[in-house]
Amino acid sequence: MATEKFDVCVIGSGPGGYVAAIRSAQLGLKTAVIEREKLGGVCLNVGCIPSKAMITASHLLHRMQHDAPEMGLELSGSVKVNMKQLKTWKDSVCAKMSGGVAQLLKGNGVTVISGDATFAANKSLTVKSSSGTTTVDAKNYIVATGSRPIEIPGFAIDEKDVCSSTGALDFEQLPKSVVVVGGGYIGLEIGSYLAKLGTQVTVLEAMPALLKGVADPEAVQIVARKLKKNGVEVLLNAKAKGFKKAGGTLEVTVDVEGKSQTLKCDKILLTVGRKPNSDQMNLKGIGLQIDERGFIKVNAQRKTNIPGIYAIGDIAGQPMLAHKASHEGVMVAEIISGQNRAYDAKTVPAVIFVDPEIASAGWTEEEAKANGHPELKIGKFPFGANGRAVSMMETDGFVKIIADAKTHIVLGVHIVGPEASNLISEAALAIEMGARLEDLALTIHPHPTLGETMMEAAEATLGHAIHVIQKPLGARGGLRANA
Ligand code: NAI
Repeated sequence: MATEKFDVCVIGSGPGGYVAAIRSAQLGLKTAVIEREKLGGVCLNVGCIPSKAMITASHLLHRMQHDAPEMGLELSGSVKVNMKQLKTWKDSVCAKMSGGVAQLLKGNGVTVISGDATFAANKSLTVKSSSGTTTVDAKNYIVATGSRPIEIPGFAIDEKDVCSSTGALDFEQLPKSVVVVGGGYIGLEIGSYLAKLGTQVTVLEAMPALLKGVADPEAVQIVARKLKKNGVEVLLNAKAKGFKKAGGTLEVTVDVEGKSQTLKCDKILLTVGRKPNSDQMNLKGIGLQIDERGFIKVNAQRKTNIPGIYAIGDIAGQPMLAHKASHEGVMVAEIISGQNRAYDAKTVPAVIFVDPEIASAGWTEEEAKANGHPELKIGKFPFGANGRAVSMMETDGFVKIIADAKTHIVLGVHIVGPEASNLISEAALAIEMGARLEDLALTIHPHPTLGETMMEAAEATLGHAIHVIQKPLGARGGLRANA
């Protein structure tokens, strides 16, 4: 059996792994990346990218149906969903992205090995594929093998009746009705776009609110209203118990506030969270320490307890977000090449691609108080008062800023509204740089843009936004005395 030797071997080619491999190669390290499925991992092939393609298409359809007539755009005949073509287009988007990763890896001189990797006792890697078995010996390993959907009793994922995001993103025909179990990130993103395409969607959420603990409650209220408007039924305090097949229909049993109900549907989408893939690759067998939630234990440099083995991305802890994985990938490659780096991000921004989008960076009010900021200044600016949002007919939502009352340092930004996903990067930069409200308020933002809402939210927090009525604060407005 041939043994190949490398400075760095990355296992998994998702947004953690492929980024780590490219950065390692850029730094002159002889690098391999091992992947058992398609390059790009869950994110590019069965997660972030295909879901955003479907969300874009459904949003366009929805706007054609609901907003276009008011704008004076008349469609002759109705717009129809051609699911086969939609799937073909969505697949082409993924193929472009995965192909792009292949090109980047090749262009940077990274060796791509297709196959399933397992650690042997001596910490070399055995890679099995249809074309045989190879052994890889590397000075450094970066484990970036990600996570998979959690199953709950009564709902085994078969991607036919009970689908994970993977199956739901790949429907050949639009189901007439879907019961979504779990009103979190994935359930709401997929549930929202299916409803816009024409599926009857019911979301079952075990908690008393959607997105509990992961998004600003006021932002969630706006999304909950829109879900209702778009025909999505949401049942809270609803615990899914199981299902049975009755002819061609599925009957889901659910306890809603203690009372049992039965819901009929064509498909079930199970989105109750994801778990790290740490039970694979003989990780435990070689003595790698894994915590009680299944994450590989790592330090701030993403070193595991075994010298020369690093872990990044979903397998190395929350938040399970692609951009956090990429950040860690670059960092670990630089650490391996001898640079002095450690994970010290103040914030990992998060986006939920629902309608309207929710995005946040930094702390909520409660978190800010718990982290030593008892007195806060909180301000909000509505998209309804922003010219660009009005001209886009997308006025639901707001930008909320949470700052320390004394220093005016920005601690958290929570956005619900159009393009929240793009607007949040300014907030992340502000938080990373320790910006004050005045930094945002005094930066000239181009007009007419959605970005002005960030400036006006900072002004509102200081007490003097122009496009909302606020009580007069005297000659200096709300600016700090030394601003
Ligand atoms: P999640 O943790 O976001 O939501 C799961 C929901 O299911 C929770 O609200 C929970 O209360 C509920 N639940 C659990 N058991 C239940 C039951 N028996 N009946 C009814 N409800 C039940 O998990 P999700 O949506 O599967 O996403 C997993 C992870 O993937 C997220 O935490 C996120 O890190 C990542 N992700 C990120 C995206 C983004 O950045 N836009 C998009 C999709 C996923």
